[in-house]
Amino acid sequence: MTPVALPVIGTPRTIVGGRSAHDGYQRGWGLMHAGVADLVARHPLYQAGLEASGGWSVMVESKRMNLFLILTSFFAGLDGQDVIEFGSYRGGNALFMARVLWDVAPGAKVYACDTYEGMPATDAGRDLHGAGDFGDSSCEALVQRRDALGLTNLVVVKGLFQDTFPAIARERPCFGLAHIDCDIYSAVKYTQAEVWPLMSRGGYVVYDDADTPSCLGATEAVEELVMQRKLHSEQVWPHWVFRAGL
Ligand SMILES: C[S@@+](CC[C@H](N)C(=O)[O-])C[C@H]1O[C@@H](n2cnc3c(N)ncnc32)[C@H](O)[C@@H]1O
Repeated sequence: MTPVALPVIGTPRTIVGGRSAHDGYQRGWGLMHAGVADLVARHPLYQAGLEASGGWSVMVESKRMNLFLILTSFFAGLDGQDVIEFGSYRGGNALFMARVLWDVAPGAKVYACDTYEGMPATDAGRDLHGAGDFGDSSCEALVQRRDALGLTNLVVVKGLFQDTFPAIARERPCFGLAHIDCDIYSAVKYTQAEVWPLMSRGGYVVYDDADTPSCLGATEAVEELVMQRKLHSEQVWPHWVFRAGL
């Protein structure tokens, strides 16, 4: 697999404040201003991932492209390369990541976690979403599509994160990427705290929704993590990206 050619950035490739500004500029500035989005769109593995996703994701394109860049150009040196998605809805992005990972990290797994029955109870004081939102998903349909595509690296986990994640953690996975896309305060707060100790050194913690107008509860949970861990962002566009353990 030939990776996408990324722009030359003057900032040295060093870790300062727990993140590489260089890497953040390569992806974020590259996608927005330096033609990287066109290169990604034409990349055969990106197209294969899109095909696998079947249009079953509500994520915006630039965010999917950034995940693609992380997996194909920044993942190789990590100790652990498992991926977990908290909030998979119909599973389109999980299928996309499983297809890409199939080529770049054979043997690594993608865990796709959701109730597959919509949002649990939410906090009306913080969250715009309410219980049952995203309820039009189907765990069975996702499993069927996974099997039809032969993506044996995709593990579909049905239930509340608070109930299902302890069993995943007992397997002692080492995550290179945690994609947190669950929109509401309680779920973001729980998942980011529980997944952090299982991240590879330098692993990527990426939030789909904490910068969106409908998810201030998610924003609040991330703000609390930033204050608690004194983090700096590696990217704020197209989504919030942090590095664990640097
Ligand atoms: C915006 S959707 C995810 C979109 C998906 N990543 C995609 O690519 O289309 C958010 C999902 O988070 C799930 N969710 C929120 N809180 C949860 C919790 N505590 N346990 C399990 N799933 C939860 C909801 O069921 C919903 O499907």
